[in-house]
Amino acid sequence: MRLKQKLQDVLPKEQLGHVSNRIHVIGDVAILSLPAEVEGNKEDIAEAVISQNKNIRIVLDKISKLEGDRRVATFEVLSGIGGTVTNHKEYGFTYRMDVTQVFFNSHLSYEHQRVASQVRPGESVLVPFAGVGPFVVPIAARGAKVMALEKSSSACRWLAENLRANDVEERAAILNADAFCVLQMINRTFDRAVVPTPYGMDKILETIADAVRTGGAVHFYAFKRRQQIDGLSKKYEDMGFEIGLCRRCGNVAPGVSRWAFDLVKC
Ligand SMILES: C[S@@+](CC[C@H](N)C(=O)[O-])C[C@H]1O[C@@H](n2cnc3c(N)ncnc32)[C@H](O)[C@@H]1O
Repeated sequence: MRLKQKLQDVLPKEQLGHVSNRIHVIGDVAILSLPAEVEGNKEDIAEAVISQNKNIRIVLDKISKLEGDRRVATFEVLSGIGGTVTNHKEYGFTYRMDVTQVFFNSHLSYEHQRVASQVRPGESVLVPFAGVGPFVVPIAARGAKVMALEKSSSACRWLAENLRANDVEERAAILNADAFCVLQMINRTFDRAVVPTPYGMDKILETIADAVRTGGAVHFYAFKRRQQIDGLSKKYEDMGFEIGLCRRCGNVAPGVSRWAFDLVKC
């Protein structure tokens, strides 16, 4: 039964229209984004979510947009016990994190796997903006050697724990640093770069281009409107990349989507 159906006996009709069925689930934590119109009934909605989903332990309300470099929102605990640290399982891997401290998007599981499945054993792979490791872990598990760059020390702590928990800590090095600065100092090239770019940091591609060998691959994520994609593709070609694939992977704002580009450096 979908959330709105479940809420028919809980919320007045005029409020029901304001609630979405979309629930972002990370491990046993459910994250809602409730509008002001249902302010007085938030706890009832949260209890409906818990009663409806036996795997959900705690329900949070996301009360701000993703903010700052760390891309983390502010949350309010609506119902449930045991805090905001959770274990999220994805394609056989486990990611432990405090969802209020780090960025994680469980809707990107297909992308994590799609990219990792292209990696061959022995490759050297660069992952700036690594977060808690949903690209780093499956890529290292493919037998690659990974360099993960992450500015948030909290994310680095969970990333280190997730490398150990998934038995790939031998295959990945973590640099707790600003990717824009440290990349200039890394005097080597990689076979592949996976770049889950935070909103508005597309400029990093210029630096990434120098860090990948000719013939190497770059998986680059950008937030754009559909009508911007042709122009962007032309720009990437002018930068010396061949475009292997361009796919939309989720909306982030009305009319703005996340786009995945599989590029090859010519
Ligand atoms: C959109 S999240 C992606 C995280 C992870 N790759 C994922 O897919 O879940 C961006 C990450 O980049 C980190 N970050 C932001 N600015 C950075 C910078 N200049 N250098 C390195 N990491 C940065 C943030 O702390 C955050 O963990």
